[in-house]
Amino acid sequence: MQHGVIILAAGKGTRMKSNLPKVLHTIGGKPMVGHLINLAARLNAKPIVIFGHGGQQLQAAFEGQAVQWAEQHEQLGTGHAVLQAVPYLDDDNLYFILVGDAPLIREQTLHDLATAAQDSGIAVLTVGLDNPFGYGRIIRQADGNIAKIVEEKDANIDEKTVTEINSGVFAVRGALLKALLPQIKNNNTQQEYYLTDIVALANASGYPVAAHRIQDISEVLGCNNKAQLAELERIYQRRQADTLMLSGVTVADPERLDVRGSVTAGADCFIDVNTVFIGEVTLGDNVHIAPNCVIENTSIGNGTRIKSNTVIENARIGTDADIGPFARIRPKTELADNTKIGNFVETKNARIATGAKINHLSYVGDAVIGERVNIGAGTITCNYDGINKHQTDIEADAFIGSNTALVAPVTVGERVTVAAGSVITKSVAADSLAIARGKQRNINGWKHPTKSNKQKES
Ligand code: UD1
Ligand code: CA
Repeated sequence: MQHGVIILAAGKGTRMKSNLPKVLHTIGGKPMVGHLINLAARLNAKPIVIFGHGGQQLQAAFEGQAVQWAEQHEQLGTGHAVLQAVPYLDDDNLYFILVGDAPLIREQTLHDLATAAQDSGIAVLTVGLDNPFGYGRIIRQADGNIAKIVEEKDANIDEKTVTEINSGVFAVRGALLKALLPQIKNNNTQQEYYLTDIVALANASGYPVAAHRIQDISEVLGCNNKAQLAELERIYQRRQADTLMLSGVTVADPERLDVRGSVTAGADCFIDVNTVFIGEVTLGDNVHIAPNCVIENTSIGNGTRIKSNTVIENARIGTDADIGPFARIRPKTELADNTKIGNFVETKNARIATGAKINHLSYVGDAVIGERVNIGAGTITCNYDGINKHQTDIEADAFIGSNTALVAPVTVGERVTVAAGSVITKSVAADSLAIARGKQRNINGWKHPTKSNKQKES
């Protein structure tokens, strides 16, 4: 059966104390509702998102993605919210109704819920809570199906003792949903249109309501404030760490790893504490990442070692490279195999060939560095004239002495040696030595200045 998804996201989220609509607050770097939109995509469904506040911000955040937006002008209850989806419902689809601020639900759980809904076309996702206060209670019948859901505020003393609660997640066939939603009344304590009333209504129409009860409460946890947001974040991150560890990665401390995007890794990788991965990161085999690294949208080849406090963004790194500690690899850096980038080195838009070394305190930007080039400490490519960026080419086996300024555009040929302290403004032909610095003068018999008697007294 074809699946559909309806996401309830019309709540204002006052307790977030934020100008951002609640469902745009992020978990793992992605808006909460974005997790559900992606989940819908995995189910081949174009989700219907019910929104009420911050419509422009919401739609802008998902521009270009397959989303059907449906506005709920006034928040008259969850039943009224789902009613806004009716124009977009197909009779034959099975719709998952999801809660926009509960982003941790698993795809497998929805498949299981669909199975529960198979016979009659309606099922509710439930969990047991030690303290069910505030939630809708699941009132079961003798046959195990659900008779009705009673909200906390409408529950009698017996009903309040029930610990099985409504997660807020449902699976309902389109035709049935269309038939039941208009029947919901708001004659309850809160004078709201409760979606939960579709359970009793379905029963009255001869459709038994199945329950799918799960054990892992985290899947249905919602988020009303920043403290809960942080709680969800840690649960989400723990899942990411577990996935990595189960795929064979050694993680020094799963509580001190953050994945804001996705990481894939080969065999025998090691990730030390406080690493943050952002966007799409790919690690080959035997990649070693030391503490406190930030790695964004980057692929790293087999056997490469990233030492501590290194920041890498939009780069491609080959095999057996050595980077850091304290390196900054900026966008469009390509480091070939066996390259070495040491401490306090910044690279940007630089192609650095196999075996090249930049070991200390350098800036290499808009540059092409040949094989086995050795760049000494304190070398700067002066790539910017205040208006334009220019390129520096350093060809294979060149040796750049320490504290060299390479004023681009400039080419340093193969096997060239540049003397330390040079300011290179003209290109250097292969196999030569370039020296461009003030000549040293030694003055014999030079005496240190001495202090006068008066200076000694004071
Ligand atoms: C709801 C359920 C309750 C369940 C609980 C689980 C109802 C009547 N009650 O209660 O049984 O145990 O969730 O968390 O459904 N929303 C709209 N438009 C509205 C009202 C709500 O889009 O007019 C959205 C909210 O933004 C939220 C979701 O629906 O994402 C749930 O609404 P909320 O007010 O939090 O429902 P609860 O009272 O917590
Ligand atoms: Ca709620």
